[in-house]
Amino acid sequence: MIEQRAPGKLYIAGEYAVVDPGQPAVIVAVDRYITVQLSEGSQVGRVRSSAYGRSPLVWVRDDASDRIVLEHQPYDYVFAAITAVEQLRSERSLPPRYYDLDISSELDDVSGRKFGLGSSAAVTVAVVAALDEFYGLGLGEVERFKLALLATIEVAPTASGGDLAASTFGGWIRYASPDRGALRAHRAAHGVSATLSAGQEWAGSGVTRLAHPDALQLLVGWTGSPASTERLVEQVRTSESRTPLQPYPTFVADSRACVDALVEAFARGGAGAPEVLGRARRVLQRLGASSGITIETPQLRDLCDIAERHGAGGKPSGAGGGDCGVVLADADLATEPILREWEANDIRRLSLAPHPASGGV
Ligand code: PMV
Repeated sequence: MIEQRAPGKLYIAGEYAVVDPGQPAVIVAVDRYITVQLSEGSQVGRVRSSAYGRSPLVWVRDDASDRIVLEHQPYDYVFAAITAVEQLRSERSLPPRYYDLDISSELDDVSGRKFGLGSSAAVTVAVVAALDEFYGLGLGEVERFKLALLATIEVAPTASGGDLAASTFGGWIRYASPDRGALRAHRAAHGVSATLSAGQEWAGSGVTRLAHPDALQLLVGWTGSPASTERLVEQVRTSESRTPLQPYPTFVADSRACVDALVEAFARGGAGAPEVLGRARRVLQRLGASSGITIETPQLRDLCDIAERHGAGGKPSGAGGGDCGVVLADADLATEPILREWEANDIRRLSLAPHPASGGV
């Protein structure tokens, strides 16, 4: 039996802007995982998942229409990953084989609610890794990441792939995305293998490993409300042309400045990073205000305000609208008061730590 696991992730800074090719974000992989076990099948292949069995669909509340909206089935990502690897296998003239995939997740709570720790990305990366091993494709980390991105953008064309990069390479990373439209077109015209080794289509994108910031503590609060990244990104994109308060390019430049400052702070072990996180929070608040989108929900506002009142920096992680908030605090800051106030405000702490970086990149 083959077993591969991939970690979840948290965005630290650069969300939304990272959707534009070449714009950077800082992301950290965390020590909670999706595990895929693969065993050879005989006449048919199957996908089993206890987590997804309990919660086969993801649904979210759309504030604008006051409706419950069904999102993609998590299996979409599994199917997209299988399809991409099978296409590569066929391009290499290897014979097809049957296999069963058993998927288990630490990225949901006991009732199947998603934490918002990048479960779609983790399952995609883990399925690609398991099939790479099964077929002996010898892909290596960079190609696994690229293949996982090609699969993901068939399901969610705007996804930046930052969560896939964190899930593949682990640790703290700076990430900039490629032009996914160009990648999809290249795959459609030339196949998977040629797209993995294409040059121009990947230009400007990349992953840089950041040293673990020893002088910092990472705290994560969970709101208990699942949010839809795809819907939020779509809303921001469609509002880009009508942002009288702050033009979108100003947001992108401000976001980049925060990412640069954070990377510099990390190079110093993390000193000054909590303040930069506060700046990044304000940049996201301005994006929300100018585009009329609730990125910082009342619960996320409480989560971040409490952290700031006690001398730390906090902000929504990722698309916001629910899910998690991330807090950075100096290593010597007492964090009990933050945790106590979170608990009193129905914010659950997720006990997790950065996942160690792999050898790659
Ligand atoms: O909401 P999350 O944690 O999946 O993060 C989304 C980050 C965005 O920049 C908003 C979207 C993306 O694809 O990078």
